[in-house]
This record gives sequence, structure tokens and C-alpha cells, in this order.
Amino acid sequence: MSRIGVIGAGYVGLTTAACFARLGHTVVCADVDEAKVEALGRAEVGAHEPGLAELVAEGLRARRLRFVPGNAEALSEVDFVFLCVPTPTGADGAADLTAVHAVLREARDAVAPGCVLVIKSTVPAGTTERVAALVGRPDVQVVSNPEFLREGHAVEDFLRPQRVVVGAEVEEAARRVVALYEGTGAPTLVTGSASAELVKYASNCFLAMKLSYVNSLAELCEHVGADIADVTEGMRLDDRIGASFLEPGPGWGGSCFPKDTRALLSTAEKADVDFPLLRATIGTNGHQAHRVVAMVREAVGGSLDGVRLGLLGLTFKAGTDDLRDSPALAVAALLAEEGARLTGYDPCVEADCGPVTVLDSPEAVAEGVDGLVVLTEWPEFAELDWPNVAAAMSHQVIVDTRNLLPGDKVTEAGFRLVSLGRG
Ligand code: UDX
Repeated sequence: MSRIGVIGAGYVGLTTAACFARLGHTVVCADVDEAKVEALGRAEVGAHEPGLAELVAEGLRARRLRFVPGNAEALSEVDFVFLCVPTPTGADGAADLTAVHAVLREARDAVAPGCVLVIKSTVPAGTTERVAALVGRPDVQVVSNPEFLREGHAVEDFLRPQRVVVGAEVEEAARRVVALYEGTGAPTLVTGSASAELVKYASNCFLAMKLSYVNSLAELCEHVGADIADVTEGMRLDDRIGASFLEPGPGWGGSCFPKDTRALLSTAEKADVDFPLLRATIGTNGHQAHRVVAMVREAVGGSLDGVRLGLLGLTFKAGTDDLRDSPALAVAALLAEEGARLTGYDPCVEADCGPVTVLDSPEAVAEGVDGLVVLTEWPEFAELDWPNVAAAMSHQVIVDTRNLLPGDKVTEAGFRLVSLGRG
């Protein structure tokens, strides 16, 4: 078993630390936020990530997991250091590597000979090789090991991954990192570092492209009398296409897809490679919130000015409390711009979000409104007591951007239901 330092206790770093401890390694996890470190030391996990708090508690109890403020301890006396710091979108759309560089500068003088520095943060192709020169320690290898953790499924994605990808210039270093994942039974792929870095962007951008395609297809369905559910069901039967990521929605969002699509486009532009598919993927998604607003406007009679709307779901997808780049909030901002008055409910959100006054139940949101808009696919929304909801509202209109609601029950309760892609 190895000694591992993890830098950054965000959802990637914390999942990495807790899961490596579960796999039997000894882990020191560092964060600059002292209050967070203290809370984690008491097994208080802020993030809504199933199974994570239990794993943190287990690691602390077994003394295989520790949380420390500042990076020093997580850099010294360890065999591996995992960099799990943010790489947000910079001014030109490229990934901002300030945090990665800062940790590497600190690591340069702190790590023991033979230590492997592992970049888990999402960084553009070529970064690992370039920063190895910055570290400038022939006795220390720098390796890329991208993460593919879905929010809300991070623990299972780490412990039972579909693949472990490790990229390095020195294969032996990559093999050592692969060995850390023994016990997960994952298929592994060892590549050069630029290829490993690109696997991450290539995967996320491909999925985003698939969703933009489906969202455009849904729009087309509305014009030609087709039903997107039937069309995608037919597509799913072709295993070259695959069965998942074919649900239309209000647009894709979250902490990864928007940032990664922009960053890959920036990489392509810098390399002087034209990538129109990627531009269209991003552009189509930008259009989606406007399209949803047009559907809502039409559903409530042509103007949103002064219209009272209840929003069901605010997070960027179900199963998370994450509001970052949430399409629901993009739609809400546009609705408010046109004068709509907004209340909202989300099982994971308590505080008001911009123009949305957050209430504590779907029923409270329905009270007196002129329409409901389903924006996040929380399963509980499909189970509402529709006759009761209808009775509370002043106009019985629902726009369901996730095609989640049971159409027959909703229409039986007297609603006009507008869904995506139903011509
Ligand atoms: C994503 C990747 O899946 C993960 O591998 C990566 O490492 C991090 O980014 P996540 O951000 O948690 O994970 O979101 P994901 O579950 O992939 O969903 C992304 C967006 O697509 C969400 O806004 C979601 O609502 C939307 N989506 C997804 C659809 O609109 N329809 C679908 O069928 C699937």
C-alpha cells in the first residue's frame, strides 16, 4: 500500500482521498480552507455526494485518512501527490492553470526523491509534459490521470470506474499510478501524457455534442410531427450510438461540460485546427435556454411580463446540489428579464437564487402561479398529486423541459402540458 497526498478537498479531491483510503492506502488530504479542513476532520462533508461522508468517516476511524490545512504535509513523506485543484475558464476560454502551477512550484522543493506527481485536475493537452520541465526534478515524474467522476455518482465512479487512464512520458511511473487502482477491477489504459489529457476533453465534449444534437433533433421533431422519445428509442437500439445521453433538456451545464467545451475549442484554435462541430455544440447549447423561454412565453399566452411562474428544479441535474452553470438558472434569468415573477423549489436548494424566491415544497411553488416549468429531472416531480397542484394554480399550464412528467395523469388533471420534441 502507498502513501498518497491529495491537494484540494473539492468534490474530486475529497472523493479521490476517501476512495484511496478505502482501497487501503494512507492518505493526507490538504486544502487551503481551514474551516473546511476542520469540518472534514469531524467527517462533516458539505457536498451532496452519496456514500462520501461514510467513506470519509471510515477513513478517519481507520487512521488511513487525514485532513490538513496547507500543502506541506501532503507533499512530503508521500509516494504520490494527486493535484485536484480547480482549472476554471480563463479570460480567453482556455483553462486557467494558476492553481496547478502554484502547487507544482511548492512541490518542486518539497517532495521526496522518487515521488510521482499526478495531475488529476483537467488540463489541456501538453500541460503535463510542459509542467514537468517547470518542476525540473529528474528524480520526480509528472503523470496525467484524468478523472471521469459524475457528480452524484462520484464514489461509485471512483471505486468501479469504466476506465483508468494514465499518461506519462516514463511508462514505469504510469504503471505505478495504475497499481494504486488495484482492487477496482477497472480496465486501464497507459498512454503518453497529451493523449491522456485529451481523453478527458474528448469524452466530455463528445457527450456534450450528443446532447446538443438531441436538443436540436427535439426542436425538429416539433416541426415535423415526430416524438423525440420514439426517435431516441429507435436510435438507442443501435449499439454503435449507445443508449445513454439521449434525453433532451434545457441545455447541458454543471462544473465540467461548459468549461471543457470552451477549453477544447481554445486548444484547437491555438493549434490552428478548425473544429466547427465543437463551436456548433456550444452554440446550440447557448440557444437552448432561449428556446425554452420562447416555449414558456407561448404557453402562457405570448408575454411574460408580470406572469407568475413556479420553477421545479434549480440544480444543473438531479442528484446534486450543484448550481454551477445550471441551465435552470440561465432560463430563470431570461424569464426574469422579460418580467416574469419567479418562485422555485429544488430538494437540494434552500437559499434564493438570483431572481428566484425559493420555497420549501412544489405545492408552495404551485400556489397561485400562471404556469409551472420543470427544469431539473428530480424523480419526485413525477409523483406529485396533480389534481391538488392544478387546484392551487391560477392557470393550469406546465412546460416540462425534461420530459419527466406522466403525460396522461397531468392532462387528466386538466393541465395543458408542453414537452420538448413532441410534434
Ligand atoms: C460530467 C461527466 O459525465 C463526467 O464524466 C466528468 O468527469 C464530469 O462532467 P457531470 O458534470 O456530473 O459529469 O454531469 P453529467 O451527468 O455528465 O451531465 C451533464 C449535463 O448533461 C447535465 O446538465 C445533465 O442534465 C445533461 N444531460 C445529461 C441531459 O440533458 N441529457 C442526458 O441524457 C444526460
